[in-house]
Amino acid sequence: MPLKWTEQLSTKIHLFDHEHKKLVELINKLSDAMLKKEANNVLGSILNELTDYTIIHFKHEEDAMGKHNFPGLAAHKKQHEDFVSKVADTKKKYEEGAIMLTMPLIDFLTTWVVEHISKSDLGYSDFLVKAGMK
Ligand SMILES: [Fe+2]
Ligand SMILES: [Fe+2]
Repeated sequence: MPLKWTEQLSTKIHLFDHEHKKLVELINKLSDAMLKKEANNVLGSILNELTDYTIIHFKHEEDAMGKHNFPGLAAHKKQHEDFVSKVADTKKKYEEGAIMLTMPLIDFLTTWVVEHISKSDLGYSDFLVKAGMK
């Protein structure tokens, strides 16, 4: 079943909701391509797109949290870094041919993104909205 962005995941900040929807879309695209048994280069390029977009999105959040002195920035940043290194490692192993893209991997990405948005990103929402972000 494709991953779905719902209002429950809304941070009430337009840019971040927009970027979260795009992340969901990319995970679904990767999942679809995997199920259709697309060629390795197709899967690899979606994985690249997902990695690059994730890094850009995390930077936007970290910049906003930093700009408004959000107290949870360090812990939040650590979560981002752990995820990026896990995805980068996966990407590297995939490119080396050491692993295949599998459903458990897609499930990991899906679960991480949903849990991170609902537990961590929603944790900055009120603070940044009060600071004037929308
Ligand atoms: Fe985040
Ligand atoms: Fe986020």
